[in-house]
Amino acid sequence: MPTLTLDHVTYTYKNAQRAAVSGVSCTFEAGKVYAIVGPSGSGKSTLLSLLAGMDLPTDGEVSLDGKNLKKLDLDRYRRESISMIFQAFHLFPLMTVMENVCFPMELCGVTPKDARPRASLLLEGVGITKEQMARFPSKLSGGERQRVAIARSLASSAKIILADEPTGNLDEANTQNIIEILCGLAHEKGYCVIIVTHDLEVAEAADVALRMRDGELRHYSEVCP
Ligand SMILES: Nc1ncnc2c1ncn2[C@@H]1O[C@H](COP(=O)(O)OP(=O)(O)OP(=O)(O)O)[C@@H](O)[C@H]1O
Ligand SMILES: [Mg+2]
Repeated sequence: MPTLTLDHVTYTYKNAQRAAVSGVSCTFEAGKVYAIVGPSGSGKSTLLSLLAGMDLPTDGEVSLDGKNLKKLDLDRYRRESISMIFQAFHLFPLMTVMENVCFPMELCGVTPKDARPRASLLLEGVGITKEQMARFPSKLSGGERQRVAIARSLASSAKIILADEPTGNLDEANTQNIIEILCGLAHEKGYCVIIVTHDLEVAEAADVALRMRDGELRHYSEVCP
């Protein structure tokens, strides 16, 4: 079960005046849901990109189970250890729902014959019907699209889910539904789920709420006792 650790992590974009992430230390464990809130520009997405191995810290260390990401094969880390979910879903518009979920498995060498039944199970697990699986993403509601994006993120072996505003485009009922799915993945299946959100409902449902401000990270309770 993976543990992601940040040790005094700082990240400054090229030519930027100040660090987007500044001296952040934190541990993210398997089986838990973490919510990161904070004002626009406070460094939340930058922090996720550091956890995802898309950027490497300017200072400090990000490590997976004690191994510094700098020393890992980052392509492999991103492919095998991390799944990402975005506010805008990022589904392939010209592929059906089924094809969207099969695609990452086929990239990893699973044959279409084996990928389809597995994709079907993952999609059923998030409440997508057989009929919906044959549709294009544009023919689904926002909540349904986000559930497809979650099913697709589960198609890989990754046990760490990084979600950037996954409920940002959804109404309350769909938000609740996505929270339940993500909490279920952490609590019942041992995923480590890290959610950047403006949604206080999501932050309240998380096991640990964190707040970013000017690039620094604090436990929410330290900020709002
Ligand atoms: N590619 C980039 N180059 C230079 N500066 C950047 C880049 N991306 C982000 N920044 C800056 O880094 C800071 C943190 O940005 P980041 O996107 O992490 O904020 P955020 O907390 O995710 O905001 P939001 O809630 O609006 O998504 C901001 O000041 C932003 O302008
Ligand atoms: Mg952001």
